[in-house]
Amino acid sequence: MQVEQEVLGKVSPTAERRDAIQRTVRSLLETVRKEADARDLGLEVMLVGSVAKDTYLNDPDIDVFVLFPELISRNKLEKTGLDIGRRTLTKVEERYAEHPYIHGEWEGLEVDLVPCYHIKDPQCLRSAVDRTPFHTRYVQSHLGEGQKGEVRLLKRFAKGVGVYGAEARVQGFSGYLLEILVMKYGSFRAVLEHASEWKKGVTLGLEEDQGKRFQDPLVFYDPVDRGRNVASALSANSFALFIHAAREYLKAPSERFFFPSPREPLSVEDIRKAVAERGTGMVVVELDRPDLIDDNLYPQARKSLDGLAALLASYDFTVLDKTFHIGDRIRFVIELRSLTLPRAARHNGPPAWIDNASSFLEKWKGAGLSEPFLENGHWSVMVRREHTGPKSLIEAKFSSAGLGSDLRDLKGLRVETGEMAISERNRAALSLLLDKRKNWEV
Ligand code: UTP
Ligand code: MN
Ligand code: MN
Repeated sequence: MQVEQEVLGKVSPTAERRDAIQRTVRSLLETVRKEADARDLGLEVMLVGSVAKDTYLNDPDIDVFVLFPELISRNKLEKTGLDIGRRTLTKVEERYAEHPYIHGEWEGLEVDLVPCYHIKDPQCLRSAVDRTPFHTRYVQSHLGEGQKGEVRLLKRFAKGVGVYGAEARVQGFSGYLLEILVMKYGSFRAVLEHASEWKKGVTLGLEEDQGKRFQDPLVFYDPVDRGRNVASALSANSFALFIHAAREYLKAPSERFFFPSPREPLSVEDIRKAVAERGTGMVVVELDRPDLIDDNLYPQARKSLDGLAALLASYDFTVLDKTFHIGDRIRFVIELRSLTLPRAARHNGPPAWIDNASSFLEKWKGAGLSEPFLENGHWSVMVRREHTGPKSLIEAKFSSAGLGSDLRDLKGLRVETGEMAISERNRAALSLLLDKRKNWEV
């Protein structure tokens, strides 16, 4: 296939690049090993990730694990692991999702230096990352030489489409998942052909017997631990987008799937036109961005967006669409059917024949926009709505909505609606909601 040959040429490292990376890796491992040996704790140093598996794209990061004997305490592992990283790398950053590690640079390449336990059985983890050395060895011994290019193609495709990476920001396919998909089906093409037939809940494995049941959209039993789904981080949307992209690519292959054009945000003028044409109501809710790593921030933003939409719906607003954008601040964008609700709302009460019907009548006598009235024997009353627009509602009630824990104090809250929301500052966020073109269609 012409397109795939061309892409392969672009994503495969040249012989010189390969040699340069090899040299850099060797000097890095030597230095880390010296640091590790000096501790006299029985530490082992191992190259993992795509450089170890020879499935990296042109600009790889180097993943180095330091393996600690199981006897060593968690606390000591963390302290020693981070210390080794700090002493070897430059531009170090301590990163902490569920497990601490050091990100830094070595001879101009990005490095992740991660401490883990040297476990014997990948089903008995001591820390979240202890399976990684097993994954590396599994791929090293099971991925055919001729399949490495297929993995590179598939990684580049997933990146281009926007579903590469298991991190919370993406909720997509990890490098390891793509590697075992190539092992399963044999080639880049075969993966796409099968993916275009996948149904939600499709269950895959490489070994005969399979493990426990999962509810995830895609299940791929980890060949080194059948109790685990390698695709557990994949969202229904990333799963669906991959299926759709596979079908579209097979119909009309193009480099655009691998190397999409950069997407410019819509101009303020175009946003104004699009919203006017729709006749809907835009709401932008801004918050200060808390100082959290993406793996914590994105789930909290997602939860808060759902909380905001539920709040609006519970006050009778109709939410047509919603998204969030994280830049210098967090912006929630909500498209409402309408920005205004009538003053009157209908409030339904009890049937007339039950005892506490009288308390309903007492409460609403002269207090609503109508007297209580009967329909099918049940009392109702027209009442005065407290919030006829989203702004006052959000300002009054957002704090009681379901929010991410670090967003609960609503620092820097600002609510803009309608024409006020359409501004240069909100351009990127509004574009994200309005521009529904897929990456390869830009
Ligand atoms: P990467 O995300 O670097 O993936 O993690 P990769 O397979 O090398 O692919 P590319 O080419 O860089 O995109 C490498 C391995 O290290 C583990 C991951 O689980 C993966 O198996 N890892 C990395 C962790 O477990 N924790 C980390 O913080 C970083
Ligand atoms: Mn890597
Ligand atoms: Mn990495």
